[in-house]
Order: sequence, then C-alpha cells, then structure tokens
Amino acid sequence: MTETRGAAVAAQPGNKSAARGSGRVRTAVVWDVVRAALTAVAGGRAVDVIDAGGGTGGFAVPLAELGHRVTVVDSSPDALAALERRAAEAGVTVRAVQGDAAELPDLLGSGSADLVLCHNVLEYVDDPERTMAALASTVRPGGSISVLAAGRLAVALHRAIAGHFDDARRVLSDPAGRWGDRDPTPRRFTCASLTDLATAAGLRPGEVHGVRIFADLVPSGLAESDREATDALVALELAAATHPALRDLATQLHLLAHRA
Ligand SMILES: C[S@@+](CC[C@H](N)C(=O)[O-])C[C@H]1O[C@@H](n2cnc3c(N)ncnc32)[C@H](O)[C@@H]1O
Repeated sequence: MTETRGAAVAAQPGNKSAARGSGRVRTAVVWDVVRAALTAVAGGRAVDVIDAGGGTGGFAVPLAELGHRVTVVDSSPDALAALERRAAEAGVTVRAVQGDAAELPDLLGSGSADLVLCHNVLEYVDDPERTMAALASTVRPGGSISVLAAGRLAVALHRAIAGHFDDARRVLSDPAGRWGDRDPTPRRFTCASLTDLATAAGLRPGEVHGVRIFADLVPSGLAESDREATDALVALELAAATHPALRDLATQLHLLAHRA
C-alpha cells in the first residue's frame, strides 16, 4: 500500500480537471451525475470515496481536490505510480492501494465508503458479477456506486462508420458485444445488462445515462473548434444523456446505483 500526501485542500474548489476542452466533452455527463451523487450522500461534508480501477486518477484527483478522502484500488503498479505523481502535482492526498477490485471488502473493509466509483473497468475484470458484489459490499448503507462501462451498440456504429461492416454485424450477435477476435475489449454492456448486474448484487439501480452519444461521431475539429462549439456539444450531450433511444447508442453507459 502506498500513500501520497500533499498540501491541505480547499473544501469546494472548481472542478479544474473536468473543465478542460475535449476532456470536458467526454466527461461532462459523468461529472454531472457524480456531483449530484456526492450532494446526495455528502450534503457538503467530506466523505470517503473509493475508486476501483481508478488508474492514473482522472476522477480520483479532482475528487480529492474537492476535499474528499479518496482511495484508489488498481491492479497496475504503473497506474498507481502515475496517480501518485498526479496527486502530488495537484497538491492533494490520495491513498493508492494495489489490488483486484473483486477483493475490495478484504482490502479496505465492508461498508468503508460513501461513494464507490468503478469507471471503465467492468469490461476487463475476470468476473463482473463478483466485482459488482464487491463494490456493493464496500459501500455503506445509504451510499452510492457509480459504474461507467462500454456500450455495445456504439461500437457497431463506430465500426460501420469506419467501413468495417462485418465487424459491425458481429457486434450485434456476439453475446459479449465484441466485433471479432482482435477486439481488445473483452465485453460491452447494454442499459439492461448493466442494470441487471447491479440488481443481482442487491443494489437499487438508478437511471442509466448515455455518455459520448455524439462526441465520438463528430469530427474532433468541429467539436473543439472554439469554446462556443464545445459548450454547445456539452449541452447537447447533457440533454441527450437520458433520452430513451439515444442513450443506448452512447459509447459509455453510466449507472448510479444505491445501497439501501
Ligand atoms: C481503462 S482504465 C480506467 C481508469 C479510470 N477508472 C478512468 O476511468 O479513467 C482501467 C483501469 O482498471 C485497472 N484494472 C483492470 N482490471 C482490474 C481489476 N480486476 N482490479 C483493479 N483494477 C483493474 C487497470 O489497471 C486500469 O488502470
């Protein structure tokens, strides 16, 4: 276990890391939901946050900047080393623990966090059911779990737009939503499969938000041509995130689930 320490943090700084150009387009919907979850579970207090598979701290460091006590559990020592550098540069404290997300209760204790994040990880773990159960048991009663995972329909669109029509067709029939043997992503989700996973772990699933519905379809030059275009695309993503047809087409699906 390693721990990085920095200067004391302000209670409510602006969300600097989430506010920059293309990063903002890609993460605006997720931050919107995470901020609302924090308001619900924290109500302005500093709370315990665990980021399972938190990698280099793209979410963990801004959350520490907001004043929360953040622990990242990740299987990769290299990612944790990069997290330590990022936290030090930001002048915040983030605890870094090497381990498997499926072992969270053994690593950190059951009921040890108010908010547990698991972003872009369920696609890669050995056993998504077991990992979701571990997330559920690590959050305190009344707390929430933020799960972000790859959406399967989006990859069919992206492969077709790139001219890989056979790959796009395979995505539609493959049980894991993969486009072929060389697809680097082991599995993708639908709104229903992600929600079912949370329900099976004893959680109460909230609404699924679609993330990057349009952002990955428009040329980046258009999306980032100027501040006005970026703002308009962010507004479009926020407006479409819960649209019942459009959210299924999102590159990522974001589920906030609750422990009663
Ligand atoms: C695509 S990155 C996502 C990083 C971060 N959550 C984000 O959204 O920016 C996936 C991360 O999950 C980690 N990872 C993969 N399998 C894991 C597991 N079973 N337990 C813990 N971490 C895992 C990887 O090392 C990597 O840092």
